[in-house]
Amino acid sequence: MMVSRGAEAAKSPTRPADQEITVPIASDLDIVTARQWGRTLAVRLGYSPTEATLIATAISELARNIVLYAKRGEIWLSVQNGSGRPGVVVVARDDGPGIADVPQAIAGGHSTSGGLGLGLSGVRRLMDEFEIISEPRKGTTVTIKRWKR
Ligand SMILES: Nc1ncnc2c1ncn2[C@@H]1O[C@H](COP(=O)(O)OP(=O)(O)O)[C@@H](O)[C@H]1O
Ligand SMILES: [Mg+2]
Repeated sequence: MMVSRGAEAAKSPTRPADQEITVPIASDLDIVTARQWGRTLAVRLGYSPTEATLIATAISELARNIVLYAKRGEIWLSVQNGSGRPGVVVVARDDGPGIADVPQAIAGGHSTSGGLGLGLSGVRRLMDEFEIISEPRKGTTVTIKRWKR
């Protein structure tokens, strides 16, 4: 299920003003929903299909981490203006266990899930900006941005 910030926007998701959406994440289906909204937003902003796929892939990874490690959380998608060009901003937030060693988690090669996913290091590579704020037992917030090329 997705919840837009504003009931009107939820009714007509193709409106240009609808550039912000929050997707609650608690299941595999929610991961797909968040991914699709990311792609929709990017395409709407005129990103190339390749760029839209990169963004969707990064969203999948962050959403999957929420499901795997925190059980639930949310993905907030929005648009930011970066000196004349749009950027897609993705904020993945949860109140889960947090990450004890953030630098190690970002470095990669310490996967606990054994998945074939991109991992946080891959997400960081794909994005123009990448920030993690995490506190053990309090939760994790990952913010990523990619400017339109
Ligand atoms: N939202 C999160 N909450 C708690 N721990 C997380 C979260 N996201 C990532 N982590 C921790 O960071 C590690 C690295 O994540 P990632 O690079 O996605 O690799 P993987 O998920 O394959 O283990 C994970 O193994 C996990 O321990
Ligand atoms: Mg992962």
